Amino acid sequence: MSSYKVKKTDGNMEWFIHDRFGMFIHFGLYSMPSRHEWVKTVEKISEEHYDKYFKYFNPDKFDAKEWARKAKDAGMKYAVMTAKHHEGFCLFDSKYTDYKSTKTPAKKDFIKEFVDAFREAGLKVGIYYSLIDWHHPDFQIDIFHPRRAEENAQELNKTRDMVKYREYMFNQVRELLTNYGKIDILWFDFTYPDMDSIRNEYNQFAIRDYKEWMPWTNKESWDSENLIKMIRSINPEIIINDRTGILQDIKTPEQTTTSDWPKYPGSDEYMAWEACHTFSGSWGYYRDEMSWKTPEMLIRILVRSVSGGGNLIMNVGPTSRGNFDKRADKALEVFKDWMNFNSRSIYGCTKAEPEFKAPQGTVLTQSDDGKRLYIHLLEYPYSEMNMTGMKGKIDYAQLLHDGSEIRFREEKDGSVSFIIPGIKPDVTLPVLELFLREEV
Ligand code: GLC
Repeated sequence: MSSYKVKKTDGNMEWFIHDRFGMFIHFGLYSMPSRHEWVKTVEKISEEHYDKYFKYFNPDKFDAKEWARKAKDAGMKYAVMTAKHHEGFCLFDSKYTDYKSTKTPAKKDFIKEFVDAFREAGLKVGIYYSLIDWHHPDFQIDIFHPRRAEENAQELNKTRDMVKYREYMFNQVRELLTNYGKIDILWFDFTYPDMDSIRNEYNQFAIRDYKEWMPWTNKESWDSENLIKMIRSINPEIIINDRTGILQDIKTPEQTTTSDWPKYPGSDEYMAWEACHTFSGSWGYYRDEMSWKTPEMLIRILVRSVSGGGNLIMNVGPTSRGNFDKRADKALEVFKDWMNFNSRSIYGCTKAEPEFKAPQGTVLTQSDDGKRLYIHLLEYPYSEMNMTGMKGKIDYAQLLHDGSEIRFREEKDGSVSFIIPGIKPDVTLPVLELFLREEV
């Protein structure tokens, strides 16, 4: 069994930690301008112009069952979809607003179709809900708000009552937890308490307009203590992330590859975590973006996350027609091809025990029962690969994707030299599967 002690939290973490790999779906009105999901605030688009997207939103190619099939084929075991992003538009039939998909030409409750289709396909379902709301009349004008640079922004802010906004937000979270069956993950986004919390290169656009009077956000902005109490009163074991300003069940490092396993603050126990990534730079569909990750980058992100004891949730931004575009389909195919033969090094695996030292250019994962060790060849070694401290520990070794034996030589210094095929096998990222001797 793994020696890494994971902090026990309220969420039902067992399936999550075993399954390791999910799909994120960012869908909303921003799919129409198709210039990133923050387009409304980056371009300071007026409500009047943004309402055109509402007026014509009609994803006629939307098929939740097709989305679910593609996620499942890619080896994803759960999916989290945006019910409301920062733009404030609701993809579910909320009774607290008319700014929702059932009032657009689509006339659909997309969250209902999402949870039904993905559950039917056997995947766990999660909902992303933005605490930020650039449409709601009571949400504060702050450093990220599309109206932040208006002449009378400070006056406008005085007319906004975050107590009323919180009530709206609580009511919607309650709706999402009550009207759509058992939700497995609630993925909130996000809290920004000071300038340091927003310094990533993406947020520079907003910093230019910052004024001293602008409020920030922290856990009090959302009344997060009571929000979490309310959530747990409806669904005690739901998995909640860390972006309400109060860490719950998972940490959510973003767009970063790491094999480090974070510890729970003030404890020597490890914290469940999930890296979230995009195929390109944008979460929402971005037609002209060219920064799409290569197949090697995609698989590397997955194996690095699991080698650090974490999960990966990979994002798709559907087009405003409701389908995944060809580039997204191609990226999902990369996962499908690799996971089809290599998922044994992902599902039910975690960080390798400290005694195992990864050879240069590789990352390790180990099965939860400790019996199998996986060496992921990020760099392809030529002919031999040496691994220290392995003498007497390996019963059998093979390439995982085709089950072909990998012979090895035990060296006098206690290391092992694997005899590696001179030509890299035709697989995005080759993996060695080692069956460890029982007594190890
Ligand atoms: C960042 C993006 C936001 C996206 C989130 C997903 O916060 O700004 O648009 O929804 O990442 O993790």
